[in-house]
Formats: sequence, structure tokens, C-alpha cells
Amino acid sequence: MYKPEAEIQFPKDFLLGAASSAHQVEGNNKNSDWWHYEELGKVPKSGLATDHYNRFDEDFGIAQSIGLNAMRISIEWARIEPQPGTWDMEAVEHYRKVLQSMKQRGLTRMVTLQHFTLPWWLAKRGGFSASNADELFARYCVFVVENLINDVELWVTINEPEIYSRMTRFLGLHPPFKKNIISALWYGHCLVKSHKAAFRAIKKSFPNVKVGIAKNDVYNEPARRSHWLDRLTAKVMNYFGNEYFLVRISNELDFIGLNYYFSHVVKLSLFGGYETVNRNAPMSDMGWRTYPEGIYHLLLDLKKYHKPIYITENGIANSSDDMRQRFIFEHLEWTKKAMEQGADVRGYFYWTLVDNYEWHDGFDPKFGLVELNNETLARKVRTSSEIFKQIKIG
Ligand code: BGC
Repeated sequence: MYKPEAEIQFPKDFLLGAASSAHQVEGNNKNSDWWHYEELGKVPKSGLATDHYNRFDEDFGIAQSIGLNAMRISIEWARIEPQPGTWDMEAVEHYRKVLQSMKQRGLTRMVTLQHFTLPWWLAKRGGFSASNADELFARYCVFVVENLINDVELWVTINEPEIYSRMTRFLGLHPPFKKNIISALWYGHCLVKSHKAAFRAIKKSFPNVKVGIAKNDVYNEPARRSHWLDRLTAKVMNYFGNEYFLVRISNELDFIGLNYYFSHVVKLSLFGGYETVNRNAPMSDMGWRTYPEGIYHLLLDLKKYHKPIYITENGIANSSDDMRQRFIFEHLEWTKKAMEQGADVRGYFYWTLVDNYEWHDGFDPKFGLVELNNETLARKVRTSSEIFKQIKIG
């Protein structure tokens, strides 16, 4: 297994963590849209997932033991507001316990308020495209922040709005499985509106809390850097894929969250549009082309917003665990280089701590620093997680 000799040093207060989302780990998320479609057999069943709902303390203990100082989790809207306007205080108390356990384990807490799932009552009305969805989302966010304000350091409104629109409305892979470009673009617009409404409502009541978004960026690399047409193609794709969403909410952000997994090599196609070019590069189990240098370019692109940046997700599906150490180490090396060039990066969250429910792919992809036995739900720390011993902070 690849084992770097070197160490990487980050400044004091740098967050080194792992990220997860409620539906993917908690189990029994019965009031959500996903659960509804799982029952109909339209997507794999999540069941108990990793049973993090009951085993959160064990998981945070593992995070601490492998050298992490932060975690990003999400709160499930369907648990907090199972029926419109009905708040479940038991769910709030559950999350308070979860957050306090994180604190006891020395983990700084980043919390996402919506990560791909919805309460079923809202999904039935069209989700974020329902007429007053922005108000409903803002109301839910303010309720959660008000109740848990002392137990969270960083808030994220929505996870990957553009991936969420694409998967649910364009590719038809996630509920409600639409395949309609207009509907996907409209949904993206509704998510912009909802993010803004939530941001403004939270900041109005609690001006000091830090609120951002987690934005997925693919790095499009020009096939030939020396050729202006390839450079232009990559630039246009990076703009529409990565920046277009951010530009519209740049006044409603305290920080930017960057989710980065893979890159494409692109050039202009003779038939119009673009084409991706195959390059020999390490591929994850999901066929994603890993390209650590991409994170450097993306971070430098984000400099112009003059906001703190957190890498809110970066990870690899690698069941044999032979690529993960290098993957993490090289992404952190390129992150450090971007910081030396002025990118204000404050933290890095690996996706994910424990192998989890990977949406329409079920439990097959293995992203975890920790292996999950799907029968017994026992956790086993993977060797690659030793890499964090070589990351120094302070
Ligand atoms: C999502 C996660 C997902 C991960 C790996 C990200 O786009 O935010 O929920 O598990 O990719 O597929």
C-alpha cells in the first residue's frame, strides 16, 4: 500500500473531518420521500442503514481515534417536521445528544439542513418547486437553528443543489425520477430561492451564526492545454457546471463548501458541444476519474469570492482500500498548495466515515474509512485511515 513518507502541516484551527448525511446512515427514515420510494421498490432499501441513529457515539469515537477533529452530519427534515407545521421535539432532543457526543469527542460540528431527502408531505407537493417551499424551508431552518444554536459551529443549508436537481429531474435516478431538462433547470432556480430565503431568515434572527452551502464541482481539464479551443471548452464547462449556481447566491454565503470527487478531460466536439477524452488515470470502483490536482484549480477559482472555503466532501469508492491513502494525501497536498497561493481553506471533510447507503447504488460503493459489515453492522477501521496521522495541525 502507498505510504507517503512526508507529513502535511496545516494551520491551527484547520478542520480535518469526515462527512455523512442522515438518510445514508441513520436508518428507519420512515417519513421521507426516499423511504416511500424504497417501499415501492423503485430504489434499493436503506433499512437500518449503518444504524448510526443508535451507534452515533461509537462512530464519533472512531472518528476521534483516527485523528479527526471535525464531522459534518445532516439533520433530517422529515424527522423534525414529520407533518407540516408539527415539530417533533423528541427528534430535536435526539440531535442534541448527537451533537453533544461530537463535542465530547473533540469534533467541531458542521450540520447540513437538507441533504437530498425531503419529508414525504412536501415531496408530494413538488418538493422545492411547491409554491411556498422557500418559506417552508426557511421556517424549518430557523426552527432547527433556534433549538440547536449552541451545539453547532457551522451550518450548511442545502447539499449539492445542482446534483440534486440533475439526479431527481434530469437523469431520473433519484425520486421523483423525472427526465426533463426544463424541470431540472426550474428546480435549480427554486433551490437558489430556498437557499436565499433560509440564509436571510437565519441571519435575521441569529446574525452571528455561520451559514454556507455545499457545492459540487467537477474539474474539467482541457485535453490540450496549449490549444485555445480546448481551454475555452473547459472554461465554459467549468463556468456553467461550477460557478453558475454560486454566482447567484454569492451575497448569501458566509463560506463556500466545495464537494470534489472527479474530473473530466474535455475538448470541443466536431458535432457541437463537448466530448470527454479518455486518459490513463486511476479510477474509483464507480469509474470516477480521480485527479487530485483538480482540487487545486477549483480552489484557486473560488478565491475571487473572498470567502472562507471548506472542502465539505472528497472521497473515493475503493473496496480494496488500496487507493484511498494516496487519494486523501494527494488531495491534501494540492489543497495546501492552493492555500499557499492564497485560497482561504479552513477545513477538509473526507466522504465518508463508515460505508453507507449510496442512494440508487445501494450499499455497493465502499467510500468508508471504516468498513461496515452489512449483516452484523459491526465497524472495522480500514488501514487507509492511518493517513491522518501524517497530517499535522497547528
Ligand atoms: C453526495 C453524497 C454521496 C457522495 C458519493 C455526493 O455527491 O453529497 O450524498 O454519497 O456524493 O456518491
